[in-house]
Amino acid sequence: MTGNNSKNLIKTIAVIGQGYVGLPLSLLFLSKGFTVYGVDKDLGKIRALLQAKSYLPDVTDEELSQSLETNRYHPTDEMSCIPLVDAIIICVPTPLNSEHSPDLTILERAVADISRYLQKGQLVILESSTYPGTTREVIKPVLEQGSGLTAGIDFHIGYSPERIDPGNESFKVEQITKVISGLTPECLKLAEELYAKVFESVVSVSSPEVAEFTKLLENAHRLVNISFINELATICDEMNIDIWEVIEAAKTKPFGFTPYYPGPGIGGHCIPVDPLYLQWKAQKAGLTSKFIEIADEVNRKAPHYVAARIQALLKRHNAPDQANLLIYGVAYKRDINDVRESPALDLISLLAQSGHHVSYHDPYIEEIEAGGQTYRSVELHEEILKNTHCVIIVTDHSVIPIDSIAAHAQIVFDTRNVTDKLGDKENIYRFGAGHGNLT
Ligand SMILES: NC(=O)c1ccc[n+]([C@@H]2O[C@H](COP(=O)([O-])OP(=O)(O)OC[C@H]3O[C@@H](n4cnc5c(N)ncnc54)[C@H](O)[C@@H]3O)[C@@H](O)[C@H]2O)c1
Repeated sequence: MTGNNSKNLIKTIAVIGQGYVGLPLSLLFLSKGFTVYGVDKDLGKIRALLQAKSYLPDVTDEELSQSLETNRYHPTDEMSCIPLVDAIIICVPTPLNSEHSPDLTILERAVADISRYLQKGQLVILESSTYPGTTREVIKPVLEQGSGLTAGIDFHIGYSPERIDPGNESFKVEQITKVISGLTPECLKLAEELYAKVFESVVSVSSPEVAEFTKLLENAHRLVNISFINELATICDEMNIDIWEVIEAAKTKPFGFTPYYPGPGIGGHCIPVDPLYLQWKAQKAGLTSKFIEIADEVNRKAPHYVAARIQALLKRHNAPDQANLLIYGVAYKRDINDVRESPALDLISLLAQSGHHVSYHDPYIEEIEAGGQTYRSVELHEEILKNTHCVIIVTDHSVIPIDSIAAHAQIVFDTRNVTDKLGDKENIYRFGAGHGNLT
């Protein structure tokens, strides 16, 4: 029943944004019996969805086809479906601007569009990651202004951080505990009723600000710790100590230690981005967040460090000044097709600037832009590997043909430790494994 806020009557929802977060979430609600309007302003995505063609590795064409057959899943680029639903869940991007500050333009536009169709009794939940205060200070006024309605009285607002981990098969979306909040006790009650029907475990917190901060704590925690281990990896390299072996040994302690693993830099739309939302908000309040500042700095330097190691490695092996380099994997992490903030982009750009011929292979990504150039994924066969002076493993996709790369490549620089199982080989170098000063 449209706009009805009585118990058990939320049956129809709109999910705004059908990307990495919004699409799996839509399909989850659908699987629990809801009618779902999947709204996205990208007409290409809506057309693909209507033709049951998935653009996410985590969602199959068959799943989409079955979803459409229910006649309860309605992909659309029109906000005019809003009056037909009981609840609206917002999952649009929250990127950084060129000054590395929060850019809420996309979110504000989406909320303004929603406000024009907002009905009495509806529940609006923001799931996009953002700084504490966004729901109350940004979303609420825009919705009220556009609709002429009052939040907490005529309609309801809440914030629930999205914790989905694309490419992670160990945790289904519904198994990840859902943290929820509401502007008022009634808002929270409605949010609880909605999410309890879908998620195995729901945890309520006292305010949208707590829920917003929770997400930023989770991601700042990862940024700081992964940057820390990346810095230690560079120290291990110089000290001829294998960081990977160190981590395995440290892991044997049954308490008080959590392992994090080195890599070529942290990418994606979340971990390198969200902590800067927190930093910005802290600065606005005249506060500092030194850990985030340092972690961000270390993370930005990571591709530069990898590029410098490769240069030194090429010199050691007497490779030509303009060497042929092949990057394996440009996605920011394993088994997904997302290149947002991927360290591979900076790395390719740096190596190309040094005069090398850089190409890449990624089974999930056909084309990328890096340093103003367009690159297309090349095939990965013996001939190409043999003609490449150095293969650089940036993303450890599960399907990586590691034996073939190790057998045919002249040199391998492995930033993810996937070659560890092959044992010591003269042509293989692992990031952080202590090959000493390569120059
Ligand atoms: N990707 C992740 O792993 C992840 C995990 C947790 C949280 N988040 C957060 O979730 C939010 C969404 O991230 P994402 O990765 O799904 O982004 P995405 O780019 O994959 O998807 C967002 C979608 O929103 C659409 N969109 C933009 N403006 C719109 C509008 N006005 N109306 C309708 N659709 C609109 C875009 O076309 C896009 O398809 C971000 O705040 C992100 O930080 C992402």
